[in-house]
Amino acid sequence: MQTLAGKKILLGISGGIAAYKCAELTRRLIERGAEVRVVMTNAAKEFITPLTMQAVSGHPVADSLLDPAAEASMGHIELAKWADLVLLAPATADLIARMAAGMGNDLLSTLILATDAPVAVSPAMNQQMYLNTATQENIATIERRGMHIWGPAAGEQACGDIGPGRMLEPMQLVELSEQFFQDRQVFLDKPLEGKSILISAGPTREALDPVRYITNHSSGKMGFALAAAAKQLGAHVTLVSGPVSLPTPDGVSRTNVESAIEMHKSVLDYATSHNVFISCAAVADYRPEIVADQKIKKTDDSDQMTISMVKNPDIVASVASLQKNRPFTVGFAAETQDVERYARGKLARKNLDMICANDVSVEGQGFNNNSNAITIYDKQGELELPLASKNELAKAIMMHINDRI
Ligand code: PMT
Repeated sequence: MQTLAGKKILLGISGGIAAYKCAELTRRLIERGAEVRVVMTNAAKEFITPLTMQAVSGHPVADSLLDPAAEASMGHIELAKWADLVLLAPATADLIARMAAGMGNDLLSTLILATDAPVAVSPAMNQQMYLNTATQENIATIERRGMHIWGPAAGEQACGDIGPGRMLEPMQLVELSEQFFQDRQVFLDKPLEGKSILISAGPTREALDPVRYITNHSSGKMGFALAAAAKQLGAHVTLVSGPVSLPTPDGVSRTNVESAIEMHKSVLDYATSHNVFISCAAVADYRPEIVADQKIKKTDDSDQMTISMVKNPDIVASVASLQKNRPFTVGFAAETQDVERYARGKLARKNLDMICANDVSVEGQGFNNNSNAITIYDKQGELELPLASKNELAKAIMMHINDRI
């Protein structure tokens, strides 16, 4: 089916082993009606020849910023303006670092600076390079600036390592491109206009004394991504956030809280005036029974200290049990084993309409990562959303909620 008919895709290839998959990727995009033009870095040409890419795309490959002949046919600024989507696959750690730094030191990086088309980035590199803080921060930077991060997949790598960093398969990139153009239309249509959505995000802090507290590793990224996606889809969004260091998404109304008790009160104040509640916050199940007025002192009497804890109210269950004006209630399940069984258990026990389960034991996803993988369960069945950036997942989750309300 011509799902990409008339779409102009600029494929930017940088120098990773996965570049050999670009011939297949180009053919599949063209099969679906896209016009594809290819730009390669010098390193990319070590992995696949420009001649191959010219043959499959039907156009000469652009690879030099300073080539008068290429500039005369379609100059780099013209090429940057031509694209409906710039797809960078494979995007190496080096290319991502140069994008994060705003560099324009070859044709591809210059085009990326010069285009106002959306840019999708498919990272591909060794797992250790991917997990390196520098790479993670670079990915977070370009994502914050609005680039779409597609992948990477996890598994066995060309170098023999196992972990995240494999480029997504050509067909997955084709499907993401199709989804991207569909979503763009949906974002223009604003299907959640007129709906109000309440989202909790981040951790809670349970005080022990004036200087100490018990908390968890939630960064708030997943909940904030949901808030941004809901807003982009047209909803009025209220975000109740635990202590995090994230900026408030544009147009979202935010209330800050610290403890589970405060979050419980704030969420219940808002719940009945919202159509949907999404409980993404990592709420402490227990809090210290006594909060000392003064800093607890170390004593010489004993090497041990026992803290008595009491149960916190279950916020999402409280909302789900509302008798009047109950919002459509969505929980999250952070699991480390037996994900489906525990998630379905929470769905039933807390009387939720939907639950988004994530396996937080897998490296590169869950708490404090930029990526995640989610399976959504509800009475109708399940929907698997494989490893992707939290922003991409948030859009998919919001679209799924939109289908159900
Ligand atoms: O913030 P990030 O770093 O981006 O990480 C995202 C995340 C891993 C925190 C997120 O994806 C996630 O899984 N959030 C839910 C974490 C959690 O508390 O899960 P749980 O399985 O312990 O709780 C189940 C549900 O009950 C959740 O919807 C939770 O918000 C809710 N709950 C739990 C306890 C409580 N006292 N009140 C609640 O409402």
